[in-house]
Amino acid sequence: MRLKLKIWRQPAAHAKGEMRDYDLDGVSPDMSFLEMLDVLNERLTEQGEDPVAFDHDCREGICGSCDLMINGEAHGPEVTTTCQLHMRSFRDGQEIVIEPWRSDAFPVIKDLVVDRSAFDRIIAAGGYVSVNTGAAPDAHATPVPQEDAARAFNVATCIGCGACVAACPNGSASLFLGAKITHLGALPQGQPERDERVVNMVAQHDAEGFGGCTNIGACTNSCPKEIPLDVISQLNKDLRTAMRHGH
Ligand code: SF4
Ligand code: FES
Repeated sequence: MRLKLKIWRQPAAHAKGEMRDYDLDGVSPDMSFLEMLDVLNERLTEQGEDPVAFDHDCREGICGSCDLMINGEAHGPEVTTTCQLHMRSFRDGQEIVIEPWRSDAFPVIKDLVVDRSAFDRIIAAGGYVSVNTGAAPDAHATPVPQEDAARAFNVATCIGCGACVAACPNGSASLFLGAKITHLGALPQGQPERDERVVNMVAQHDAEGFGGCTNIGACTNSCPKEIPLDVISQLNKDLRTAMRHGH
């Protein structure tokens, strides 16, 4: 395959950035999108140019770090992570525009790499869950209904990639936040701090500069883990309950 790439280049966080054009040939349809960028970077390095900085780690759809806007879509044309996207999803000769996540709360560090530590601070604001110390409890001492366990497992698959924020016209992180709130709220271990957790995490979300949810649904449509939109209803419900309790 031969591709015409348009890539955001920005040498540092506060430097001016610009879109640059790159012609790349010798790309196999079986390569992942990140492998295609590896090929580009090998060529740039051979030519003595600065390779394109992009974030990645596991390349298995687990870590959530491979955050790229591809032709205006978070993670590109398939509902998956960028590392699991393959070049067979593109046409020979196609132009591909590659940008970093679009969100004021995720500032660019270099080229395509953004700082997603705002998500870490939201998680930290949620605090801890209470556990009794001492001997390990019996396995059946805290029964969890199968339906609740399945719900918690389902929403715990959120990998914190930030695609929901990048896809949202409001730049809201409500799907991510809703997944975290719903996960612990579905389990007995999450009950003692439930009210404080939602109030503090929502306050941190807003302080980081993420926008509000207006039920557009672009987040769930671009989420590689298919986190459902109803986690945001659960988030709002938990917040109202906490406020009724005087928080
Ligand atoms: S909710 Fe989905 S899109 Fe948002 S951070 Fe979690 S996995 Fe990524
Ligand atoms: S590199 Fe880990 S999810 Fe893509």
